[in-house]
Amino acid sequence: MSFIIAIDGPAGSGKGTVTKLIAKKLGLVNIDTGAAYRSVALESINQNIKLEEEDKIINMLDNINIEFKNEHGKDLIYLNGEDVTDKIRQKDVSKIVSPISAIKEVRFKLNDIFRKIAKNQDVIMEGRDIGTYVFPNASLKIYLDASPEERAKRRYIQNQKKGIQMSYEEIVENIKTRDKIDMQKEIGALKKAEDAIYIDSTNLTIEEVVEKIVKKANEIKN
Ligand code: DC
Repeated sequence: MSFIIAIDGPAGSGKGTVTKLIAKKLGLVNIDTGAAYRSVALESINQNIKLEEEDKIINMLDNINIEFKNEHGKDLIYLNGEDVTDKIRQKDVSKIVSPISAIKEVRFKLNDIFRKIAKNQDVIMEGRDIGTYVFPNASLKIYLDASPEERAKRRYIQNQKKGIQMSYEEIVENIKTRDKIDMQKEIGALKKAEDAIYIDSTNLTIEEVVEKIVKKANEIKN
């Protein structure tokens, strides 16, 4: 079996940043599963499909092509041949991605893609249900958490750097709403796997979190 690190946790817990760094340190393929859910949300916007039109969203899945690529050391996501790495972070996508990801057909389709990717290569995969549902036998499972306020602060800074205009209050609201939907999903709800290591990153630096996880991974590997 491939070596698989599963990193789950809520929005803004630092998963993205630490996953990238760990991937580099350990030479693993880095898969951001949230980016795939965001791509489905973006495609529904591109096709003018409303959230209530679940049938149309499900039909759309037959013709959707999502690819993860690494070009010049940068992780990119392609939707139907187009690089959408930046587009999927926009506000309109963030607003609808949670309900889109609650549609079970969307989850089945994307989980198939994730499992295929991990078949022949060692990966670190971040998401909400990687350790509980997608890879219940992952080599190492981490549940990364932080307080909602700290997570909103991090997202705010991240957005500023990317030129995304969203107030701090708007982000806190968005994060709390998403937490609620993500934790109450019928399938793939955000929760800690019983055998996952819980890390609260509220008062830890990125380096400290990375160090903890790399140490664990090396213990398992060696
Ligand atoms: O990590 P993120 O904020 O980019 O994720 C976007 C949304 O996708 C988030 O609201 C929850 C959902 N998601 C999911 O349901 N399951 C995953 N494995 C990853 C993300």
